Amino acid sequence: MKQVTAVAPANIAFIKYWGQKDKEKILPYHGSISMNLSNCLTTTTARFNKQVTTDEIVLTHYDGKIEILNPEESIKNKKLYEQINRIRNIAQRTESISIQTHNSFPSKCGIASSASGGAALTLALCKIFELNKYLTNLKKLSALTRLCGSASAMRSLCDGFGEIVVEGDKCYAQNIKLSDLTLVNIVVIVDPEAKASSSSDGHLLAETSPFFAARLGQVEQQLEYCKEALNHQDFTTLGTIIEQDCISMHSVMMTSTPPLYYWNHKSFIIMEAVKQWRSEGIESYFTIDAGANVHVLCEPKHLAELTEKLYATACVQDLIINQPCQGAHII
Ligand code: DP6
Repeated sequence: MKQVTAVAPANIAFIKYWGQKDKEKILPYHGSISMNLSNCLTTTTARFNKQVTTDEIVLTHYDGKIEILNPEESIKNKKLYEQINRIRNIAQRTESISIQTHNSFPSKCGIASSASGGAALTLALCKIFELNKYLTNLKKLSALTRLCGSASAMRSLCDGFGEIVVEGDKCYAQNIKLSDLTLVNIVVIVDPEAKASSSSDGHLLAETSPFFAARLGQVEQQLEYCKEALNHQDFTTLGTIIEQDCISMHSVMMTSTPPLYYWNHKSFIIMEAVKQWRSEGIESYFTIDAGANVHVLCEPKHLAELTEKLYATACVQDLIINQPCQGAHII
């Protein structure tokens, strides 16, 4: 096998992961739940590179800009190169690897490009190095995926809706029984620029917030309620929990030392608009990851109306419409 291509979706967290109890092992304090995003995809090709002795990762951004990732430039980049090394070592192989990866959506602005990127990279590497024990075992593959630097990448391996489970110092992803709830996610782009603080840095500040303990105290319950709502196809309960969890996580972010503000006034305009439209009978809910862009959730019956209203809102630059989709896979 000379080359392998994997595709992985980004995901939006319904119950979010914020804070790491072990920085080295990239170990979240608690579980999380997300939905895959069918139109926010990373496509990654891994090739053996006989010409050189070093690995190379080349990222093509959604706007066509090409970036050779420099391992010295950020911890995130370093961890991606370490992931190549780790998987090559597990396979007891020696070949250099060349990675070409492409994002269909803006990176580093709250749409989880490191989740889709980490999942696609790990899967492509396991395939090219023929690590069948990992390819056939989601628990093993997800635990390995996490080490790329983004724990949320584990959820991009799942189909439709994914869950991260944390049991002591074990952490893995599992599929959530596919809900019949037909959900649509609209990524509302209000600011495609890269955020000022990475999530990796942000996770390390969570413990400095006086609200973090309160969040930890309620998160297990919220995870259960979220799964129940998915199971019972109860969109109203699900949406309410999703908004609560978003505000809970951002409260921790904003009260950490130093404080982190990922949402901005444009995000806030969308949050207020969603609440207003909901009061007028267009049932929809917002959530925001570590970035200014807003994710709006609705059922298909309200999609056309919401899309029209969002496009008519001055701060909206673009929309990406997503449904739950297949997790990372080889093409
Ligand atoms: C706010 O460290 O897994 O999106 O943000 O993509 O670098 P990146 O990944 P990670 O942190 C995710 C934080 C979050 C919440 C979530 O997705 O659970």
